[in-house]
Amino acid sequence: MESNDVQADLKHVLYTREQIEGRVRELADEIDRDYEGRDLLIVGVLKGAVMIMADLARALHSHVTMDWMAVSSYGSGTQSSGVVRILKDLETDLMGKHVLIVEDIIDSGLTLSWLKANLQSRGPASLEICTLLRKPEGAKVEIDVKYVGYDIPNEFVVGYGLDFAEKYRNLDFIGTLAPHIYE
Ligand code: PRP
Repeated sequence: MESNDVQADLKHVLYTREQIEGRVRELADEIDRDYEGRDLLIVGVLKGAVMIMADLARALHSHVTMDWMAVSSYGSGTQSSGVVRILKDLETDLMGKHVLIVEDIIDSGLTLSWLKANLQSRGPASLEICTLLRKPEGAKVEIDVKYVGYDIPNEFVVGYGLDFAEKYRNLDFIGTLAPHIYE
């Protein structure tokens, strides 16, 4: 879907398809450089990271292997609780591997800080994080993130994998939702 398809639901477009494409290519170039000569496993966190995983993987010039995890970080509300449940675990043994977690957004940081500790305990050779979006104002825990697409204000963002009540994931851009949609 494009912005015209959901115009009435949006406050504004934050990043267009073209902007995201350009930024993802820059991140991929950095990752190619940093992991040159090493095997890399990229781990996508379902469901939000589907788009960034697919585009990042295709923008890389090196071979990577891909695996997926699904975790549930929210209770009934829309805020991270810090209590994380694994809904789908990795199929790959991380022992001795270079691992890069790929996320769509880091808000409180609670999900990623739990996930990083969990994956670290599996003995990877290295473990880093790449996120397309980060909300610095939302941070509740310090978390070291090596690759960040954009730092964004504390607004309700949807699109390019990000949902509101499971909708809007298939927008080809990132936008902020109009308050009448979620209030
Ligand atoms: C989102 C996002 C992160 C988490 C970030 O996932 O993909 O996993 O929230 O929030 P935090 O930094 O406050 O912990 P969500 O639980 O919405 O699941 P989804 O990817 O399936 O939409």
